Amino acid sequence: MTGIVIVGTQWGDEGKGKATDQLGERVDYVVRYSGGNNAGHTVVVGQEKYALHLLPSGILNRNCVPVIGNGVVVDLSVLFEEIDGLALRGVNVDHLRISANAHIITPYHRVIDRVTERFLGRRKIGTTGRGVGPAYADKVNRVGIRIQDLFDESILRQKVAASLEQKNALLVKVYNRPAIDAESVADELLSYAERVAPMMTDTSALLNDALDQGRVVLFEGAQAHHLDVDFGTYPYVTSSSPIAAGACTGAGVGPTRIDRVIGIAKAYTTRVGEGPFPGELLDDTGERLRQAGREFGTTTGRPRRCGWFDALVVRQAARVNAMTDIFVTKLDVLTGWEKIPVIVGYDVNGVRHDDMPMTQTELHHSTPVYEYADGWTEDISSARSFTDLPANAQRYIRRLEELIGVRVSGIGVGPGREQTVMIHDLL
Ligand code: IMP
Repeated sequence: MTGIVIVGTQWGDEGKGKATDQLGERVDYVVRYSGGNNAGHTVVVGQEKYALHLLPSGILNRNCVPVIGNGVVVDLSVLFEEIDGLALRGVNVDHLRISANAHIITPYHRVIDRVTERFLGRRKIGTTGRGVGPAYADKVNRVGIRIQDLFDESILRQKVAASLEQKNALLVKVYNRPAIDAESVADELLSYAERVAPMMTDTSALLNDALDQGRVVLFEGAQAHHLDVDFGTYPYVTSSSPIAAGACTGAGVGPTRIDRVIGIAKAYTTRVGEGPFPGELLDDTGERLRQAGREFGTTTGRPRRCGWFDALVVRQAARVNAMTDIFVTKLDVLTGWEKIPVIVGYDVNGVRHDDMPMTQTELHHSTPVYEYADGWTEDISSARSFTDLPANAQRYIRRLEELIGVRVSGIGVGPGREQTVMIHDLL
């Protein structure tokens, strides 16, 4: 039995694909368990680059079964756009499996995501505008539409009409927008049924059987710990549970099925969208980090907010997710800085905190306390073992390890798949 979860330790965009790449051919199933097409990752195979938002990264490997778990919200138009895009490049994805219980992002969820953000004005969340939050809201509100509903037309029509009744009142009376026609939404959803049918599966049963047979199942987290609806910087979070425990509820496997939790930590910190970010650098240094790390969103193209490595942020993620390994990405971006600041505490109104404060108010009033590591100037992009790294880069990694309290098992030293230093095997 080998269940492995990969989780971002910061605010997303840590480069989770790096760890997935290392596991490569050894993985039998890759499972998305939360989020929707708000995620974005680039998969590089040979000379070909694929930008995926919804499909699990294992989709390109014929020997690996890609699974969309019940915890994911699925925009069917995006799903088939991605599938068709891959088919045009000769990639066949008929091995994809989708949970019958996964919820659907409908056209009205997308509309509501955007109009709500506009309505909030200065108080907006900075969502990706893909309808993810409204689809999860409907799920919890018990007015969501599930994949299995596509196969019972009269139920589907009733559910869409019921869900739209309240929303249309809101759209017309509060947001001054036209009402959405329930019949045409239902027609659009039904048009996907035939293509979805062969993919719809009891994915929980599938994955539990696979684990019983000793298969390797990789649960691929989207977003990250600090965007989690419970543990993130609420309300500036996504509407699901990207944390490792989310793999259990979002894929239908029990906690004892998880053998390893690999946290992905960028060698510095970034965030997109609104919300507190104590270490944010609003000066030239932040801009230098953004340019050096090419920190612009895969899904929305937005420039990412940048800061130095924040040990409090990653340590909290390590604790809540019971991380067994840390994979540090983009270490090469830090080459050339004489001193590398690391956040080791927060000053909250004159009081020193060594861990993230309990309340959001304190977080908003946190000023970083830094220590300074010595930098290096050598090009590290061709390092393949830990001892290939300059002494100061090695010290930086060892210091992060000490601050996080979890061993660093891998390090990314460049964008290429092979540009990786492995210290401990991930399997
Ligand atoms: P939503 O998930 O579109 O509702 O957006 C909620 C918050 O999560 C916003 O701050 C987004 O920028 C952020 N977010 C959602 N998905 C990602 C991601 O894949 N990487 C980084 N931030 C994300």
